[in-house]
Amino acid sequence: MSGCQRDYRPAIHFAPEANWINDPNGMVYINGTYHLFYQYYPHAPHWGPMHWGHAASEDLISWRHLPTALYPDELGYIFSGSCVYDRENVSGFGTKENPPLIAVFTSHAAQGGLEQQSIAYSTDYEHFEKYYGNPVIPNPGQKDFRDPKVFWNPVRKCYSLVLAAGDHVEFYASGNLKEWEKTGEFKPGAHGLSGICECPDCFPLQTEEGEKWVLFISMILPEDCVGQRGDVYDRVSHITQYYVGDFDGNSFRDTQQSELPLLVDFGTDNYAAVTFQNLEEKVMIGWADNWDYANVTPSGEGPCGFRGKMTLARRMALKRTASGWRLSFENCGLEAKRACSYPLSRGENRLSSQSFGLSVEAGESAMLTLRNASGEKLVISVTPEELVVDRTAAGRCDFSEAYAKECCGLTRVPRPAGGNSTMEIIMDKCVLEVLGDGGRIPVTVCVFPEHPYEVLCVDGEVEVRCFLLD
Ligand code: FRU
Repeated sequence: MSGCQRDYRPAIHFAPEANWINDPNGMVYINGTYHLFYQYYPHAPHWGPMHWGHAASEDLISWRHLPTALYPDELGYIFSGSCVYDRENVSGFGTKENPPLIAVFTSHAAQGGLEQQSIAYSTDYEHFEKYYGNPVIPNPGQKDFRDPKVFWNPVRKCYSLVLAAGDHVEFYASGNLKEWEKTGEFKPGAHGLSGICECPDCFPLQTEEGEKWVLFISMILPEDCVGQRGDVYDRVSHITQYYVGDFDGNSFRDTQQSELPLLVDFGTDNYAAVTFQNLEEKVMIGWADNWDYANVTPSGEGPCGFRGKMTLARRMALKRTASGWRLSFENCGLEAKRACSYPLSRGENRLSSQSFGLSVEAGESAMLTLRNASGEKLVISVTPEELVVDRTAAGRCDFSEAYAKECCGLTRVPRPAGGNSTMEIIMDKCVLEVLGDGGRIPVTVCVFPEHPYEVLCVDGEVEVRCFLLD
């Protein structure tokens, strides 16, 4: 125990006022407001009987806390799921003038853990009524049957959902959001990672070759695989991967097969990422933690303690690369802050804030080092071969063996194309997000420095501009 209790509350990343959060749920955009629901335990800073918490924002950067949206009931805890802004009122729970918001979530039985899908509806987008006919998708005899994500099915012209079912995901379709028919399955692992699936999402993105579909699946790796290679593909037990392919109205087909798994993030701390249901552009948010140590991180200590925070919202695009179509990411909501950036010099720069962004133009090789008075350092470096984020000496590691492992603290991502790298780096108290190579290499990691970083050292062929976030 370090003796000092630091406030690790980020300035622009969503975190709860107190206690525990995990996965983002039910993200929708209604009348100029972004809604974020999330897995929430309101009574202690560790996981417990799940509720849905609720927050809202107009800019995806500053969030207001709203009353808890869903409480556990006789069917169980309220596990992850999604929301549909039902504009046409196909559910009949509202009117066309006042469309209902439908939450589709997993009821996880407190005893025995049986999982089935349920719905709830709201017409003021704050207070929800559970549907008397729950569950709407009863358990078919499947262990691990959860996390429904609803999306518009343009082929059948109805809503579909994708949910996690053990080692695969399943697709269901519905005309009224109450009666669901199974339409298909997709099993990851022939390419990519295999394991227990969680929090899938399926959505289209436009490319010059027409529309392609992306399937996100958060994976729990089998215990005996974790740490085998110690690289970005297996050093932690929970990793989010994606596939690129087609959706024929019934199921997903992987057409852009890759030798290596495609990761939504190469860092250790971006899990259960999903997209907003009804935005024209595709924007994701992930949980910026990892189950391997999320329940014991130092941010939960002390009277201001909280555990769990979200990544920034990231807009996605598919970019053509030598090995196929791959996702590229861009942070949302930072335009005004970026516009106030100022240049940093080579060598040492004093930091006036613990929450800042860096716009970086790096040549063949560059190194950025954050340091504090306790001698802790967080290093981000680029060479023609790789992008490296080294948080092994960046702050407290004593709270978890898994977090303290060298392979967990050292993120090394190959750069097949080499060359210059444009990066946006966001450092916000206890979360570091690097979008390297113009957004092609996202790396999110949590750090817990004993004291604020005071100095940023800029070395190599690099131009850096800084903008403040608080
Ligand atoms: C993923 C997850 C989901 C589940 C929720 C429970 O992080 O395990 O599969 O619905 O968290 O809080």
